[in-house]
Amino acid sequence: MKKLIGPFIHIIPLTGLPLKGALKDEQLHIIPNGGVLVEGGLILAIGDFKELRKANASAQIEEITSPQVLLPGFIDCHTHICFGGNRAKDYAMRIAGKTYLEIAKSGGGIWDTVTQTRAADEVALVQSLVQRANRHLADGVTAIEVKSGYGLSVEEELKQLRAIKNASAQTKARLIPTCLAAHMVPKDFNGSQAEYLAYVVNDLLPIIKQENLTNRVDIFIEQSAMDTKNALVYLNKANQLGFDITAHADQFTTGGSAVAVEVGAVSADHLEASGENEIGLLASSNTVAVTLPGASLGLGMPYAPARKLLDSGACLAIASDWNPGSAPMGDLLIQAAVMSASEKLSVAEVFAGLTFRAASALKIEYGILGLGMPADMQAYLCADYREILYYQGKLKPNLVWVAGNSHV
Ligand code: NIG
Ligand code: FE
Repeated sequence: MKKLIGPFIHIIPLTGLPLKGALKDEQLHIIPNGGVLVEGGLILAIGDFKELRKANASAQIEEITSPQVLLPGFIDCHTHICFGGNRAKDYAMRIAGKTYLEIAKSGGGIWDTVTQTRAADEVALVQSLVQRANRHLADGVTAIEVKSGYGLSVEEELKQLRAIKNASAQTKARLIPTCLAAHMVPKDFNGSQAEYLAYVVNDLLPIIKQENLTNRVDIFIEQSAMDTKNALVYLNKANQLGFDITAHADQFTTGGSAVAVEVGAVSADHLEASGENEIGLLASSNTVAVTLPGASLGLGMPYAPARKLLDSGACLAIASDWNPGSAPMGDLLIQAAVMSASEKLSVAEVFAGLTFRAASALKIEYGILGLGMPADMQAYLCADYREILYYQGKLKPNLVWVAGNSHV
């Protein structure tokens, strides 16, 4: 059954834009009084609403009666929303002056969430993950990457990845899982960093493959987590096993992005500490540079050099990093809008970073409203697309569709 949705005052399909480099708002294609024809969850046609209605007289009509602007659904290509408990205590210490690393050393940090996540049973873990995914969906985020990394043993990482798989069946948001067993060496592991990573390669990754839990592997490359030498060995092995690679890179110190580029990672995420060298490396690679303004806001630290990355020709995506430690807010649109004011990003660059550029970091074909693409879309009650960032994330979508079905 065909369905025609519209008319929208404007449709911004985000088609025909380059994957890399700076963008001007003038490059945005705008369809006035537009409609979207959907069949089987995919976009069959997009264009003038009245013409589409004439040409498809038998199509069911989903009528939009107030002025609304239609965009592709946002894609959050970096989250850690499968976790137990919270870290409000860490946050209070941080705003009172302690650093993320000092808090981690004194018993807070990632290990605290590992303890709370291990204590959570799988049903509770799934339930809280579904709630967070649905909150994101209501905010227009139709595809969400979700990392493990709070289990840090074979059984506990599998528990997290299975929870993500089960949650997928309970939310309309599309969940893309990633294994982050290389988040830190767990405090109860008896051995070196290299030995822990070898244990992950030998004892965990084969089961993940066998159960088809994810084809993506992430690592936290940082002086306080995994060093560049061990990271390189680990990622090459994961590559050989057929996993796509992504990395937490250059968050506090550099080194991670060079490793990411060297192993052909799909993305290098964080980049707050990246300088000219790292920017050049990323710009001349096919690795997507992912900025995580939520972590900068949560830690009270500078943003990644988003403007410079774009001007150098990199593919820049924007993700929330939603996690209980460094980025607890989890509101992708607020974070992107607030960062763009400081980094001086155009609306086109922000929309691209939240949609098709984020999709390329996940190797999925979403994020534009084009023929044959999934009808994952969101509409805002406004007459001008520029209002969406102008309200800095407080204007939320009025309607959100996944595969042509509306959910909000
Ligand atoms: O992306 N940097 C490492 N990992 C997460 C934080 C995880 C946590 O603090 O629980 C991040 O910021
Ligand atoms: Fe992260």
